[in-house]
Amino acid sequence: MAWTKAFPSADLPEGEMKQFAGAAEPILICKLGGKVHAVQDTCTHDTWSLADGFLEDGIVECSLHFAKFCVRTGQVKALPACDALKVFPAKIENDFIYIDC
Ligand code: FES
Repeated sequence: MAWTKAFPSADLPEGEMKQFAGAAEPILICKLGGKVHAVQDTCTHDTWSLADGFLEDGIVECSLHFAKFCVRTGQVKALPACDALKVFPAKIENDFIYIDC
């Protein structure tokens, strides 16, 4: 894998999430406590973008059937999803967000 420049950190407000489509697969990037976290954007229950869902306290909820995932670990927090999300290393450097993907 290699570090990929996503977008300016200023484009992602604290506590919010945004899809990055410039990698091999869509990636969901979240900013929590000044740090960025990146997971696969496609829900593991069915093919649906988690970026269309809701983020609260580091948990993203899918807007289709309401599965929940931790955006730090990718772990499932609520059914109907059973499989965890892939997690990608993420960092902020020189005011840009980078994803190792
Ligand atoms: S597609 Fe996400 S919960 Fe069903």
